[in-house]
Order: sequence, then C-alpha cells, then structure tokens
Amino acid sequence: MPGRRFPSRHERSHSGFDLTRKGHWREKGTDAERAPAPQSEEFGFSAMSDTITILGIETSCDETAAAVLRRHGDGTTEILSNIIHTQDDHAAFGGVVPEIAARAHVEKADQVVARALAEAGMTDDGIGGGIDAVAATAGPGLIGGVMVGMMTAKAFALSRAIPFIPVNHLEGHALSARLTENCPFPYLLLLVSGGHTQLLRVDGVGQYARLGTTIDDAAGEAFDKTAKLLGLGQPGGPKVQAAAEGGDAARFTFPRPLLNRPGYDFSFSGLKTAVRLAAEELSPLGGSDIADICASFQHAAARHLAARTERAMADFDIPAGDSGRLVIAGGVAANTQIRAALTALVEAQGWSLLVPPAKYCTDNAAMIALAGAERLAAGSVPALAETLALAPRARWPLDENPEGRRHGGGKKGPKA
Ligand code: KG4
Ligand code: ZN
Repeated sequence: MPGRRFPSRHERSHSGFDLTRKGHWREKGTDAERAPAPQSEEFGFSAMSDTITILGIETSCDETAAAVLRRHGDGTTEILSNIIHTQDDHAAFGGVVPEIAARAHVEKADQVVARALAEAGMTDDGIGGGIDAVAATAGPGLIGGVMVGMMTAKAFALSRAIPFIPVNHLEGHALSARLTENCPFPYLLLLVSGGHTQLLRVDGVGQYARLGTTIDDAAGEAFDKTAKLLGLGQPGGPKVQAAAEGGDAARFTFPRPLLNRPGYDFSFSGLKTAVRLAAEELSPLGGSDIADICASFQHAAARHLAARTERAMADFDIPAGDSGRLVIAGGVAANTQIRAALTALVEAQGWSLLVPPAKYCTDNAAMIALAGAERLAAGSVPALAETLALAPRARWPLDENPEGRRHGGGKKGPKA
C-alpha cells in the first residue's frame, strides 16, 4: 500500500487540519463530512512506507541524551545526530545520586535537545521543524530522571502536534545493534549494563522472551563496586578495564558462579565478595595488587557471562536455513575482555557476534529514537492523548506480556 506522506507542521496548521481540544490533529470539516479515521490515523501517518524523522530523548540514569534518527520505508536508518551529556556531578558520592541526577537533567535537557536538532539540521522553523515524532525513555530507570525526559518529550510533541512514543529503555538496548548493523531477527541478546544482566530471545520489535537474569547484582554494578572498593573512581567498568591491563588474571582464583545450576541466570555477588576478601587480605594494596585483582575479576566476570551465554546458545531454536546470532548490548558490552570471551565462544559454535560501537552500547538516545521509529513502523501510532497521560515507570520488564514460549526464569532484575 503506498503510504501517505506525513503532513508538515505548516500544512497541518495552515491547510486542512485542526487541532482538537484533546490535542489531536484532525482534518477540517464537520463530523458528517469527515470519514471516521482509525486511531492510528490520527497523525495522517502511514508509517510502514513513510520516511520518519524522529527525535529520541534518554534520561534514565546519568546521561542526558538526545538524537535525531531518520527511518526510511525500506527499514534503513540514518543517525542524523547523537548528543550525550554525561553528568559529572556524582563523582564525590561514589555512585549516581538520583536527586542530583534529576536536577542535572532539568538543567541540561533543553540544551541537549537543541544541539541534537541543530546538528541534524532540523531548524528550518527555529523549533525543530521536520521532526515527525518524539520518543523518550519512559522507564525503567531512576524515576526523577525519567520524568524529566518524558515531560520534555511530551511538551515537544504537544507543541508540534506530533506523536509521542514512550520507549522501554531496555528495548532501546535490545535493538541497538540494528543502529549500525544488518541484524535480522531472531537473535540471542546478552544485555549487560549497570542495572541489568539478562539473556533474551528477540524475535522482532516488541517480541522479547527473557531467558535468564541476574539473581543479585548486575554485571556493571559488580564492576562499579569493584572499582569503588579499590578506590579507582566511577564509572567503574572502564576504570577496572584500564587497571587490569598488564595485570595477572591467574593470580587470584575467583569463584565460578552458578557453575552447576541449570538455566541461564547470573550471579555476581559472590564475585564481589571474593574481590573484597582478596583486597582486605593484601591491604595495603600495591599497584600490581590492584592490577592483578582487576585482571582476575574481569577474567572471572567474562568467563561467567560466556558460560551462561553458551548454555542459552545450545538451547536456542535457530530457524531452518538460518545461522545463530548473538548480540551484546548495554554499557558492559564495551568491555574488551568480555567481547574477546564472547567472540571466542561464537567462533567455536559457528555463530556470529554483533556488538554496537561503544557509544551505542552505553546509554544514548539514538537507540531510543530507533525503538520509537520501529514501533511507529510496526503500525502502532499511539493517540497523543493516550501517551500524554502515561506515567513514567521505575520498573518495566521487557517481556511483560510474553507471547509464546518462555525459557528458564529467575527473579526480577534490580530495575526490571
Ligand atoms: O548501559 P549503561 O550505560 O547504563 C545502564 O543502563 O545501566 O551501562 C553502564 C554500566 C556501568 O556499570 C559501567 O561501569 C559499565 O556499564 N561499563 C563497563 C565498561 N564501560 C561501561 N563495564 C565494563 N567494562 C567497560 N569498558
Ligand atoms: Zn542502559
């Protein structure tokens, strides 16, 4: 079906469209003259075949981020801008302080959005003309920050009469490899971030089955706590990785969590305790002690992630004629040792590994824009009145309404 072109803001405000009291655009004329439009036609949107230019906003932790992405009718995408401001206000506290994060998002959100629009050339009318829809993280995450991002996006959508798409932050990570790679469905996803460590089967946009999750700490949290314990600063992942360079990964024999436990769950609290005990025993720590602890910890973390992933790969139902794909996403996917361990694993199994570039692994708004665009393209254009009424969610599991199969199980992750 040929798609109708999305009417520009100018066309909507000056020609055949009226803004209703509920904030909906509708074609001019009396009710009798107008054919009743299905809800998804509210914006004159034929998403399947239209080119969509979408603004994404991400504020769920300590990054204030905005990006503009264009999705073409054939499914190809272009990232027109990707602005990330990482808050440095938390350094003295050894972790992200939610209240400080929320206030910092308030200060930065408008500037970051303005930069994303300017870099993408979306300034013909001075206020973001050319943007067809806006997507923002609506959870899970630190609630104060999520509120700031959602309110910014809602104001943007309402003032321009364009759809507002609330996005699950985890869906952004789940689709992030598709920002830069040809990555068809289905694939096995290892989502490793500061708040989550999960294995998911991804069968399509909105089709996620969680296979396993952490029963205690997330992988990124273990890196952050290790860094804190060793006085390396935050965020811990890159600091531990840097300190581990030149360290002896064989000096400490850290535990292999859940070694004989079936299923695909993870556990990092035992590793964290082992690191603490090793550090206490050697105190005061010399430079090579820190390097050796970091190298041994990183090795153990990579081994654990690879071992649980290997199980899920073995049980993964690959469609006939296809081959296996493993995607890693989330901030911890930036870790070179973990990438190396998973590369060795997929090579041994004849699978392929897809990892987004580091800037799309850690929190960013391009992945939120992509998830929003994919939702629109799937044909589900939500009514503005409906999405404006939505509240942010601190917890929001990706497979909330699982359809079809679900393997394994496990407790809910810290934020999911
Ligand atoms: O995805 P992300 O930016 O935010 C969340 O949604 O949590 O992930 C942040 C986490 C932090 O725990 C950080 O220490 C970790 O990702 N991280 C890394 C590396 N870079 C970031 N962990 C290990 N190695 C890295 N190179
Ligand atoms: Zn994240």
